[in-house]
Amino acid sequence: MNSISQYPIFPANCKSLLCKHLSKEVFKQLKDIISPNGYSLYDVINSGIVNIDSGIGVYAGDSESYQLFAPLFDPIIEDYHGFKASDKHLSNLNPNDLNASNPDDDNQYIISTRIRVARNLATYPLGPAISKNQRNEIEKLVSETLLSLTAELAGSYYPLKTMTKEIQNQLIEDHFLFKAGDRFLEASGLNRDWPDGRGIYHNNDKTFLVWINEEDQMRIISMQAGGDIKATFTRLSSAIAEIEKNISFAYSEHLGYISSCPSNLGTAMRASVHIKLPKLANNMNVFKDITDEYHLQIRGIHGEHSETVDAVFDISNKRRLGVTEVDCVQDMYDGVVKLIEIEKSLKI
Ligand code: ARG
Repeated sequence: MNSISQYPIFPANCKSLLCKHLSKEVFKQLKDIISPNGYSLYDVINSGIVNIDSGIGVYAGDSESYQLFAPLFDPIIEDYHGFKASDKHLSNLNPNDLNASNPDDDNQYIISTRIRVARNLATYPLGPAISKNQRNEIEKLVSETLLSLTAELAGSYYPLKTMTKEIQNQLIEDHFLFKAGDRFLEASGLNRDWPDGRGIYHNNDKTFLVWINEEDQMRIISMQAGGDIKATFTRLSSAIAEIEKNISFAYSEHLGYISSCPSNLGTAMRASVHIKLPKLANNMNVFKDITDEYHLQIRGIHGEHSETVDAVFDISNKRRLGVTEVDCVQDMYDGVVKLIEIEKSLKI
């Protein structure tokens, strides 16, 4: 069992939500608490202590962690999502409620659309506190469920451990493979026994993809070329419904879908497009004003913490908790419509 007895010293330039909200009082209150799956305060905060440049810096080991360590998690969740401990989360995955005709019919700006949700299983601890056996059980259950899908969702499962170099290179080229050795996950305990129990499922068209046992037990992903955001959401929504026939997801009335990182709670959804905006790239202030107004995040196209290449940006919703899935996609859609409108109006 890991434990921590001394209040950690954070460098003056530390900007994480962990160092902002872990006061000495909170530390004292939580330092001896252990979750039913053996997850301690040390485990909750280790990633943010090892990685001083964390934005958040904490991970949960099980659903119970969010209650047991609430004096730390609650202010972090409120700070990140603007969601109070007394608020309730509501889910809506109905694509009919989404108002989103293709904003870029002649494919001038949007290169691709991708929407993902994180899911964890109701009857297991989360990845940071899971045992090797439990992780393998999940891999078996989830991969078998996925392999029973039919029609558009039918496909193949590739365990990381036995993946050939050829398949691996192909998946990297398709931007499908998750990266190994992420230092934030490493310090949270999420990379234990790597690559055992991890793998990737995708359908034959490569428009539906599931990561098994990465940061969350499932990352369910719908993606396609171009800007048909509604079609991408519709596919995701029906895939989730199919999977749910066989698997119960961890969900709470208060926090929605339970994820190992508090940034993913609630809808656990990131809806994004890769979009080419060369003029806005020269006017970053205008760009940022729009993304702030529509609650969007700007990333590079090679994943989290990556830089922009050739004025292609990854634009996604920032709010995930206290809004519905339809709201998340609508935020992204409305913002993208605005970005395209402004890009067209700019001279340089
Ligand atoms: N733990 C990292 C940090 O605090 C990542 C947070 C959000 N990203 C994620 N993949 N969960 O900066």
